[in-house]
Amino acid sequence: MAAGKGTRLKSKHPKVLHEIGGKPILAHVIATAQKVVPARDIFVIIGHEAERVREAVAGTGVNFVLQATQRGTGHALMVARETLLGNGNMYDQVIVLSGDAPLITAETIRKLSDFHSAQKATMTLLTADLDDPYGYGRVIRKGGRVDVQAIVEEKSATPVQKKIREINSGFYAFDGAALYEHIDRLSTENAHSEYYLTDMAAVFHRARKKVAAIKTVDASEVLGSNTRTEMMVLDARLRLAKCRELLENGVTIFYPHTCVIDSEVEVGVDTVIEPFVQLLGSTKIGADCRIRSYSVIGNSIIGDRVTVKPGTIMEDSRVGAGAVLGPYSHLRPGSDVGEGAHVGNFVETKKIKLGKGSKANHLSYLGDAEIGEGVNIGAGTITCNYDGVNKHKTVIEDGVFIGSDSTLVAPVNIGRGAYVAAASCITEDVPADALALGRSRQTVKEGWARAKRDAQKEKRR
Ligand code: UD1
Ligand code: CA
Repeated sequence: MAAGKGTRLKSKHPKVLHEIGGKPILAHVIATAQKVVPARDIFVIIGHEAERVREAVAGTGVNFVLQATQRGTGHALMVARETLLGNGNMYDQVIVLSGDAPLITAETIRKLSDFHSAQKATMTLLTADLDDPYGYGRVIRKGGRVDVQAIVEEKSATPVQKKIREINSGFYAFDGAALYEHIDRLSTENAHSEYYLTDMAAVFHRARKKVAAIKTVDASEVLGSNTRTEMMVLDARLRLAKCRELLENGVTIFYPHTCVIDSEVEVGVDTVIEPFVQLLGSTKIGADCRIRSYSVIGNSIIGDRVTVKPGTIMEDSRVGAGAVLGPYSHLRPGSDVGEGAHVGNFVETKKIKLGKGSKANHLSYLGDAEIGEGVNIGAGTITCNYDGVNKHKTVIEDGVFIGSDSTLVAPVNIGRGAYVAAASCITEDVPADALALGRSRQTVKEGWARAKRDAQKEKRR
């Protein structure tokens, strides 16, 4: 169920698209569901901002049901009837997941499903004991047994019922046929004038059908995200769980609560992550690396034994084994840094290939360039890749030495083993093994400075 607006967030974005742990809340729930059943058996109920929600998760291959007006969780299941019937056969078991409770695990969903089958129940709810049950539906058990009599929402609960700590998690298993035989008995006579799916417990109880409940071992799995505060708690939990997973797999992370590491990130053994590092998206980092503080690395692939010095920013880039980056390097999309290469402080790169062992250690802009192996890029080198309309390419072949403060006006080609003298403005191709000087000749005026000083002394006298 993902059709609700999320009024309590005070947001213009639908609740299930808010991100925790680096991806939309709903994407977490779908990913977990996909561990239990294939995407073709997953139906996402969308409504508020339906197209945005659909677009965000369509890549998973799940089905969608449109709940055009959102009249409650019971109504969400009512509108799904036709789609779930599909070619005429209703699913034996329908598992309902809450699109705003992203910490649920596949193991717990399977337990819910198995328990439901074993109990031969018509409806089984997943419950949890919370220290602070405020806001959740409370579970009314028949004399403390497995069977459930009803679920009472916060707003309708009596003071005595409000003291019940066992809450309804919003995850259920239903007998598909029985659900739709009885769902029309739901009414909107409640605090929100909505069809509550939770009322199915009382409906089935009255119809003498078995309503069972199974309690989670880890209550935090079922926490919902109705408010930004709840989201912050879930985000912190997910991030810390990710750090713990990496720590258990041989990665050292100092001050993990200062690091932001997205759930899909992979890091190799014996890599050390210093405080205040962000590793985002599909980033993969090899073994024996050191990622120093304040580095932000997004969707990049880094080989083994790489050192990333403080404050390095990287997006959609690749870095070969043994390379050294930073401090304060900026690798923009399409940067491909070769094995053992160095990119130093205040060097910005974009769409370049920097060959094996090549070095650009200080203060450069390298864009749209193909740079060979063993190349030395002097401090302050700039590739002038943009003429105001089009981008042009710079090719620097193996073993080239570019002197400091050179400007290379693209398109231009520097041949293998050539030298470019410092402070040159290179506008024409340089052949292999040549020396190119693109600067005006220096003139020296002998004794000029002494003469000037003498003249000043004379004046003062
Ligand atoms: C619901 C339960 C409550 C339970 C809690 C657990 C009901 C009436 N109450 O309350 O017992 O303790 O979850 O988190 O079900 N949705 C739709 N269509 C709608 C309304 C909601 O798809 O018309 C979706 C929402 O997007 C959300 C989910 O259903 O993902 C739950 O709705 P929400 O409004 O968050 O219910 P709660 O108030 O949390
Ligand atoms: Ca909720």
